[in-house]
Amino acid sequence: MNINLHAKYQPAYCRVNTRLLYQNTVHVLKSLRLTHQSLSILLIDDEEIRSINHHYRHIDKATNVLSFPFNEALDTIVSTLPVNELGDVFISIDTAYREAQEYNQSFHERLTWLIIHGILHLIGYDHERSPEDALTMFNKEQDLLTYIHTQRRCPMTKLAINVDHVATIRQARGINKPDPVAAAAICELAGAEGIVVHLREDRRHIQERDVRLLRETVTTKLNLEMGANKEIIKIALATKPEMVTLVPEKRQELTTEGGLDVASQKKKLAKTIEKFMAAGIPVSLFVDPVPKQIKAAHDIGATFVELHTGAYCDAPTEYEQEVEFDQIVTAAEKAFQMGLRVNAGHGLDFHNTAPVAALDTIEELSIGHSIISRAVFTGLDQAVRDMKEIIQNASSMY
Ligand code: PXP
Repeated sequence: MNINLHAKYQPAYCRVNTRLLYQNTVHVLKSLRLTHQSLSILLIDDEEIRSINHHYRHIDKATNVLSFPFNEALDTIVSTLPVNELGDVFISIDTAYREAQEYNQSFHERLTWLIIHGILHLIGYDHERSPEDALTMFNKEQDLLTYIHTQRRCPMTKLAINVDHVATIRQARGINKPDPVAAAAICELAGAEGIVVHLREDRRHIQERDVRLLRETVTTKLNLEMGANKEIIKIALATKPEMVTLVPEKRQELTTEGGLDVASQKKKLAKTIEKFMAAGIPVSLFVDPVPKQIKAAHDIGATFVELHTGAYCDAPTEYEQEVEFDQIVTAAEKAFQMGLRVNAGHGLDFHNTAPVAALDTIEELSIGHSIISRAVFTGLDQAVRDMKEIIQNASSMY
């Protein structure tokens, strides 16, 4: 299967999650048994689709989707050859957005539907041929949407490890060991898919030297957690981590206490996101699992949200934990439907991680304290492997 899916531009009003659309396209081709086929999907603006519509169909107006089957472009002899190319689909991001509002769908649901519609045209379905054909195509679209919803939406949840507390032990003595850079390498060798460090304003654990060396040595993905302050933004832009996670930072706190109040500082955060996006660094916002914050994160162009799992982890009773868990499920679903990529973390340990890891809307968990604590007794390699096993088994258990 060779899918070339590309968004030619990102609109100002919301981000197009090409990763999600790519995954949905994979599911569609699998369901249609077209896994050996290639196709190209280009997401463009109204002006460009109008121009293509005018050039090839002599209709001088924008539309939602245009499909050009590969076979139609060939002469009859060549078209009998066994080719694996399905053709090209063009989708207008602007029209998709307007239609999503009109039909009360999420933007990415609409884009997914347009991809399905475009692919079905490539393989011969045509709703304009007759009312029967229209019904057949409509039913097939519904089947494919249902199929997508039954698939695990994010592949296996990944584990990113926060090594701040290795630095905490080092700083307790003010010497050079244990080294969080060495810890990160052990975590990666044991299967961690990312390394997280929080460079705090007060430098209580991670130091600039750590960030510099980690940038050179991390082979998976470096996620730099940080407050949105000028000095740290400058360091982050110079370091170029694979992503940054913006968190609220208070000097007196023992650890990050609540999520960012994105809704009340949209302007400031939007500017910070813009700076990072211009440098090609995606931004995650650490938020409480509440709809208002998710919507605000989406509105200002965040690529990820990291859902704060602290209230779930610290819940004093089973009932309260269930209530908090439901908040995470709902928030993750909402964020995913909006096209945000979803991470989660804070307070996750060897007893409470599995239900969160089982959610197929969540891409990655960020875990620190529980793994570093366990490592004191089992060694870091074993502690990481134990957590990996919990995450890997989670989806079959819940
Ligand atoms: N995610 C964020 C945004 C955090 O601030 C922290 C704590 O540094 C974590 C995840 C990891 O939390 P814990 O150390 O409790 O696993």
